[in-house]
Amino acid sequence: MCGIVGYVGNKENCVRVLIDGLEKLEYRGYDSAGIAFLNNDNIDVVKEKGKIVNLKSKIDLNINSNLGIGHTRWATHGNATKENAHPHKVGAITVVHNGIVENYNELKKDLINKGYVFNSETDTEVVAALIDYIYKKEKDMLKTIQKVKELLTGSYALGIICDDNLDTLYTLKNKSPLIIGVNENENYIASDVPAILDKTRNYIVLEDKDYASIKSDGVKIYHDGKEKDFEVKEFLYDANSVDKQGYEHFMLKEMNEQPEVFKNTTTPYLKNGIDSLIEKMPDFTKYERIRIVACGSATHAGLVGKCMIEKYANVEVMVETASEFRYKKQFLKNDELVIVVSQSGETADTLEALLIAKQNGNDTLGIVNAKGSTIARESKMVLYTEAGQEIAVATTKAYSAQVALLSLIALNLSCKKNLIDKKEMLDILRDVKKLPDYIEELLNRRDEYKKIAEEIKDYNDVFFIGRGVDYALAQEGSLKLKEISYTHSEAYAAGELKHGTISLIEDKTPVIAVITDDDIALKTISNVKEVKSRGANVICITNKNLSNDSNLYDKKIVIPKVNDLFEPLLTVIPLQMIAYELAKLKECSIDKPRNLAKSVTVE
Ligand code: AGP
Ligand code: GLU
Repeated sequence: MCGIVGYVGNKENCVRVLIDGLEKLEYRGYDSAGIAFLNNDNIDVVKEKGKIVNLKSKIDLNINSNLGIGHTRWATHGNATKENAHPHKVGAITVVHNGIVENYNELKKDLINKGYVFNSETDTEVVAALIDYIYKKEKDMLKTIQKVKELLTGSYALGIICDDNLDTLYTLKNKSPLIIGVNENENYIASDVPAILDKTRNYIVLEDKDYASIKSDGVKIYHDGKEKDFEVKEFLYDANSVDKQGYEHFMLKEMNEQPEVFKNTTTPYLKNGIDSLIEKMPDFTKYERIRIVACGSATHAGLVGKCMIEKYANVEVMVETASEFRYKKQFLKNDELVIVVSQSGETADTLEALLIAKQNGNDTLGIVNAKGSTIARESKMVLYTEAGQEIAVATTKAYSAQVALLSLIALNLSCKKNLIDKKEMLDILRDVKKLPDYIEELLNRRDEYKKIAEEIKDYNDVFFIGRGVDYALAQEGSLKLKEISYTHSEAYAAGELKHGTISLIEDKTPVIAVITDDDIALKTISNVKEVKSRGANVICITNKNLSNDSNLYDKKIVIPKVNDLFEPLLTVIPLQMIAYELAKLKECSIDKPRNLAKSVTVE
């Protein structure tokens, strides 16, 4: 997703601050970039299609400037071109924008009738023109922004410069993330703190419909025409989270952090066994049913959570994709807990689903990684996944932490409803202690994953199959492969193959079969035999001692058998690593896959 950086101050070279900040936001994904900066009483705008390196080649990084805004664009309105790149300057106003202005067409028509000419296809240029038009009448930026706020529909984080106030940055925020970084004699705006972490750890989170006037010596925040108080927070992650620490890719580093992340996520709840598990979590027993709503991998984590909560706590769980949930006819019951799962805590569709649940009067629980993010703030209750800053667009450690937390919710409910026997509880607590080592051992078996990647690299279609919780894992494995190796794949409920998809199985078609669930393993094995008998190249990921039956599979990756509650945290490792090794073989951009963004803050 797009990145915004802005600077006003006396100490720093603004142009270099903007470029450094945008480079630290590259992980969010983008297709073009630009900056606007004060240069001898004028605002100069430089922007280029493609990567920031293209932009840098057009800029003098040592120019003396103390005011500016920068942007990396993830196109929503208009192709990835230089003309559509931000910043957009119209008249006295220069703007960068993250989000979608849904009523931009009617605003554009009206502004064209008022004589404005547009050079881009973007909604953002319309916003710049609107601000310019109203400012020319009001001659007061705060009044102007207050009026513009009422005219815009949709999501926007705006960085604004006005030619008549070249000592001030203005912002306006609604649904898209924006923070203000504060320091002595200088202040910043950014989409996320990592952009300015080497400058300051102190930041202010803007609420929806907040707007601000930011000068080098002070920040004023307004809401509905009145100045408001604000809290200055301290960013808690360490700086090295935005450093690869010797790993070839952030994704590899983050996969290797999973043993530690599992410990950090589970220890607070299990350090004193059942007592801390009960004490550290809200009471979920009053909910008749649970609905989990999320996007992408977070949905897949929700599917694992469904299996665990239904199995251990005997509570019905529905899992919905947020982008579908938010537009469908709602049947939310008041006795339902709505859980939203999000690494970034800024995913637009998930946020909207949360707001729908809140408007309906449901209790909401956010399972979030980014502390203080919008979804975390908007949820009635929040449980943080202690995964640390996740930079790679393809989530791994945050997904695992989501699965761990959802499994702990299942265990919490099971204990509170006296549905789990003491032996199984002890079994689980014993496995919890072993899990980090098991995860590490699986991470280190890279030769096995490389061999499989070699076998499947020339195929355009890979199938993942499984039943029950294994089907949930198959879906995550398929997404990882697609995301980072650009290899088409499909996750299929193993029992569904014979209802159509098996027609696609040819000689050597790669099929990755996930077989860990004791209750239905034999059924999945039957499905594996079906595809094997049609020539498929079958790779089994299993915790079973499958017979060395060459009619059953071609390769198998045997993972340690642990209590079902935490088995998915082992199953997912080979799936992540196979995707990673294949992406390496195909020399893909692993940390920043094409077209993707780390946080999808547009709909
Ligand atoms: C996962 O690898 C993808 N990057 C994507 O599916 C992601 O899980 C999805 O966009 C949800 O993001 P969130 O967890 O930040 O809400
Ligand atoms: N909607 C704006 C555009 O397409 C902003 C997109 C973004 O958030 O990067 O230019």
